[in-house]
Amino acid sequence: TDARSELLQPCAQAPAAPRAKVSVVGAGAVGMACAVSILLRGLGDELALADLDAARVRAEVLDLQHGAALARLPAVVGAGDLSVTAGSRLVVLSAGARQREGESRLALLQRNVAVFRGLVADAVRLSPACTLLVVSNPVDVLTYAAWRLSGLPPARVLGSGCNLDTARLRFLLGRRLGLHAESCQGWVLGEHGDSSVAVWSGAQAAGQPLAALGGDPARWAQLHRDVVAGAHEVIRGKGYTSWAIGLSVADLAESLLRDLRRVHPVSTLARGLYGVEADVFLSLPCVLGGGGVADLVKIRLSPDERARLRKSADTLWAVQKELRF
Ligand code: 2OP
Repeated sequence: TDARSELLQPCAQAPAAPRAKVSVVGAGAVGMACAVSILLRGLGDELALADLDAARVRAEVLDLQHGAALARLPAVVGAGDLSVTAGSRLVVLSAGARQREGESRLALLQRNVAVFRGLVADAVRLSPACTLLVVSNPVDVLTYAAWRLSGLPPARVLGSGCNLDTARLRFLLGRRLGLHAESCQGWVLGEHGDSSVAVWSGAQAAGQPLAALGGDPARWAQLHRDVVAGAHEVIRGKGYTSWAIGLSVADLAESLLRDLRRVHPVSTLARGLYGVEADVFLSLPCVLGGGGVADLVKIRLSPDERARLRKSADTLWAVQKELRF
């Protein structure tokens, strides 16, 4: 008899299959920040990592497993191909090239669409009940590509989009007002990128509408410019962004896996809304639950905000319409 059977009297016939398996495809800095953030929030009962670089995945899995006793981590597995992701409820797609210094997110498109062609259909075949959460950039157009390549209903394909830009805005607003970011509300919508739109008409701090607080509207507008510049600033300093996007993805994962119906600005199919006529994905406030995007929030936009959102959609469409499948 071995040590295990000396210690344990088996009861169950077979080990239970995971019920909340989360996979992260792409084990670079962003994928690993997502993985760690998801694990430390106690989400999921199995985490799978997949990356073409099998040696790197093995090392990342091992490095995480070494923390099991320290942070009560669930099973962590990984491989150099997608087979390890089978049976996932949530698949986070962070594979692909990253933005180079000074490069726009849209310029990355062709490189990363090719990556998605090779993996989206397989990911869905292996996890037919999953929700796909796209993180790779340019996230809005790649979410559209993932939707087209997956054959899934639009509710089950979303992009991390402006959930991160909104977090940046809340941080900056909080810093300006001397409050924690959590006590500041306001949406950044549209493209995750240079044409995003800050919806000041609905912004609040400590439950007070920002519009009632006075101050120079141009100074609020500067905060939004700082949101856009913030990503570029981090890239200049460290070559990529990772921690905030990882935390933002874990926040989305919590709403999706726990069926919370919290509202997040994420990239979703916007056709028919706010004057958008094409099949464009961009960030709108979405109610997220166990089945993905459960509802869209009908927000009241000022005429100027509405026009900017349309313009953001046009920016995305101009790029997206060149895509061939
Ligand atoms: C970010 O906003 C680069 O899209 C990435 O952090």
